[in-house]
Amino acid sequence: MNVMCGIVGIASNFMEDRSIGVLLKEALLRLEYRGYDSAGIATIYNNKLYIKKDKGTIKEIHRKINFDDLLGNCGIGHTRWATHGSPNLINAHPHCDCNDRIAVVHNGIIENFYELKNKLISKGHVFKSETDTEVIPHLIESHLKGRVRRSSVEEAIEKTIRELKGTYAIVVIYVGLPDTIFCVRNENPLVIGINSNAIYCASDITAFLPMTNKVLMLNNNEIATITSNRIEINNTNLEETDINDRKIVRISWTPEMAQKGGRPHFMQKEIHEQPIAISNTLKIDWNKILKFGEYIHNTPPGNIYITAAGTSYHAALAGKYMFTKIANTQIHPVISSEFREYIGNTLNNDSLLIAISQSGETADTINAIDFAKQQGAKIISITNVLGSNITRKSDYFIYTQAGPEIGVAATKTFSVQLTSLALCSLGLAELNGSLLNNEILEFKNRLNNIPMIIKNFISSKEEKVRIIANKYYQNKNFLFLGRGVNYPTALEGALKLKEISYLHAEGYAAGESKHGPIAMIEKDYPVIFVAAPDETYDKILGNVMEMKARGAKIFSIIQENDQTIKTLSDDFIEIPRNIDLPFSPIVYIVPLQLFSYYVAIKCGYDPDKPRNLAKSVTVP
Ligand code: G6P
Repeated sequence: MNVMCGIVGIASNFMEDRSIGVLLKEALLRLEYRGYDSAGIATIYNNKLYIKKDKGTIKEIHRKINFDDLLGNCGIGHTRWATHGSPNLINAHPHCDCNDRIAVVHNGIIENFYELKNKLISKGHVFKSETDTEVIPHLIESHLKGRVRRSSVEEAIEKTIRELKGTYAIVVIYVGLPDTIFCVRNENPLVIGINSNAIYCASDITAFLPMTNKVLMLNNNEIATITSNRIEINNTNLEETDINDRKIVRISWTPEMAQKGGRPHFMQKEIHEQPIAISNTLKIDWNKILKFGEYIHNTPPGNIYITAAGTSYHAALAGKYMFTKIANTQIHPVISSEFREYIGNTLNNDSLLIAISQSGETADTINAIDFAKQQGAKIISITNVLGSNITRKSDYFIYTQAGPEIGVAATKTFSVQLTSLALCSLGLAELNGSLLNNEILEFKNRLNNIPMIIKNFISSKEEKVRIIANKYYQNKNFLFLGRGVNYPTALEGALKLKEISYLHAEGYAAGESKHGPIAMIEKDYPVIFVAAPDETYDKILGNVMEMKARGAKIFSIIQENDQTIKTLSDDFIEIPRNIDLPFSPIVYIVPLQLFSYYVAIKCGYDPDKPRNLAKSVTVP
């Protein structure tokens, strides 16, 4: 099964000065953050299908078998993140039918593939791989009868998807149609990019961003038939959709935004981009913030939920504290994979679900949304990807302004999520009167200083964090503790370290540390405190002393000139004053992002491609 994965298809008129193999390889490299355990490309040339694929990263495979000499006018490519079925040459995409006439790349899960596979085998089809994907080319083959035209391939695809259960984004080529690609999606992402020489389809925009920023969104269960200068979109009844009505969106992202900009890793570049990302997010039209706030304001108390996964969940949790503190409003945070069980059938037309997702494609979050919608709840969301599934399922959404994030470990998208939630809490405070207008203005003014504070902080403190990371990288276990709104900061700091350094790091509410984790403490056990001087300060100071008394090595993130915790700490990083404490995670997380980055570097890992992880998790 191939659940995250990046897929791409290109139909060109051959005007490009590079071969289709080069174009597909470059597009795959831009999608590699979605999965990187095997990859492959198929093109059609001189009435024959050419496929190159193998296990490994795209660069490794290219060195071995050279993708660049693949010729043709159109082709498809895939970079895989395997769950079931080991990452090897046979399981790598593209997959073919019995006669090597149809090639398919797929992102998603075909849940009924055993049943389909057995049926196909009983009809004489021969399978080569262990993947679910391989049933697709065989099913298409089984539906292709007589002379093959574009319309007959479309029909065969249409019949095929009627038989599939599960989620998918699929791109298909057929050897007899060397200038055409076909694609279809159900829940998994697929966008179409248009320029004058070629039309692209891909799991996300970054794949074709250097070629075009003109994007057309494909809806669930639409089949697009694409040549270099024409897109025809049919629904599953093969009724043509008038795409003249459909908006071609111009994405404001530039190709440079999706490159490393002279830095060794995307992660470091993206940490450094936080000031600009936050500053752009702070420019979101206030009326939009108020409209978002109105959904919350108009929902009866007790009926508002916030859901997300991974880093976005940590932002959601911090958002909960912000809404309580700033707008005196209760929202219930729920991890999206737990939503269904946790909430059950307790929602109704008066309920509201706030969904937070960088990609807008996380399956668990989408499932939570669908489940809430079925019960009549309204959905509002915060995402970084325009046209993503979650934005389309939402009654209203806020689009964060981080630009593309390529590093698998989320950094700048976390800070813009926090920033958007900070703005929303202020918008809600305006609507429900929990703050006076001049107080809101002062909060906004201080929020506007945060980009500059982070910029100066990174330029003055990055080296110090690197030196501290070099001191700690040999430890195998870490405890991250925080309280109040910085409890989520501690969780996120621990998650970053786990994700890219593979070290055991636990984030905990500092108050809970004496109910268990303290038993682990022995001499030099590293405990990292996020200790902003808010109303939790005295308590966290007590926790620092408890840990110190048991020999822990203390690394603290404190406000500048906090002499008390400074003297108790083995290492410390000081954060400037004048940050409103409910919004302090936006700044206090930065040293922890840098810390995990430098620990990963010192351990010799590539922080942009952490093992076993994928940026966009499109499987529940
Ligand atoms: C994956 C990524 C995480 C991310 C999470 C949620 O696990 O590796 O970095 O936080 O998905 O993703 P989302 O796109 O919904 O924010």
